[in-house]
Amino acid sequence: MSQIQTVVEWIRSSKKTIVLTGAGMSTESGVPDFRSASGWWTKTDPQQVATVDAIESNYPLFHEFYSMRINLLDKCSPHEGHYILANWEKRGILQHIATQNVDGFHSKAGNTQVEELHGSIYTFRCHSCGRSASKEAFLAKEHCAHCQGNLRPNVVLFGEMLPERAWHNALLNIQSADLVIVIGTSLEVYPVNQLPKMTKGKKVYINKEIAHHSTYFDCIIEGKAKEVLINLQERLEKNY
Ligand code: NAD
Ligand code: APR
Repeated sequence: MSQIQTVVEWIRSSKKTIVLTGAGMSTESGVPDFRSASGWWTKTDPQQVATVDAIESNYPLFHEFYSMRINLLDKCSPHEGHYILANWEKRGILQHIATQNVDGFHSKAGNTQVEELHGSIYTFRCHSCGRSASKEAFLAKEHCAHCQGNLRPNVVLFGEMLPERAWHNALLNIQSADLVIVIGTSLEVYPVNQLPKMTKGKKVYINKEIAHHSTYFDCIIEGKAKEVLINLQERLEKNY
């Protein structure tokens, strides 16, 4: 039986299916990932821009990096693979998405059960006093109206804790899942890379390049997220 057919059988018999996504889910929308050949971290050192220290000691570089990502994202939108996952939630095939992505594309495509484990690039706060701030104020490089602190997007930076509720919900959902489908992530970053191991259910890995540390998956499909999801959808529609 083909890997696609195997996963279709598992989806059909699963009572609780969870999807975990990373940056590879959005590259076919035109959004670079981080560690592929054309990823963000091949051009910029993450320690220079994705850390609390960057805000405190190199704010112009931090601001430039995240402004550039926001302006790029404003020109991108979810692709057919995102809409398939939203269709699966509507049909009761998919119960929950946990994502490392900050682009909001799963919610934009229509999924309502989404945990953003690395926060969102679309909301902002003052790094010093925590008061929320607008996208316009951040892009205009304004300081916090209350304490004159530096503004930042609500993404999780190196060394910062993940949002407690999002992490707890994702963990509970994955622990109780019959099927966890991991799409478009190198599984390089802690602690999200530990989540797939925490399920008793079947584990599927769909990725353009298969990470060396993915041997614990029950099924591995080397391929592009959008193409594989279209394949799965076509097979599911045949007999679902
Ligand atoms: P780590 O040692 O756990 O990460 C393993 C590898 O991934 C390292 O080689 C590191 O270079 C890379 N990596 C980790 N976080 C990264 C990030 N934010 N952007 C790019 N590459 C990253 O990393 P660490 O320095 O110990 O940081 C882990 C801490 O950072 C955890 O507390 C976690 O809550 C937080 N975190 C942040 C992000 C994020 O920035 N969105 C993502 C995952 C984890
Ligand atoms: N289809 C499937 N897989 C893809 C596609 C695609 N169209 N495009 C890229 N990939 C794969 C790449 O081969 C890579 O293995 O997706 C993976 C993306 O991995 P990363 O670039 O490391 O992104 P991610 O795993 O999401 O990074 C985790 O690191 O820097 C932090 O906060 C950042 O949330 C991010 C975290």
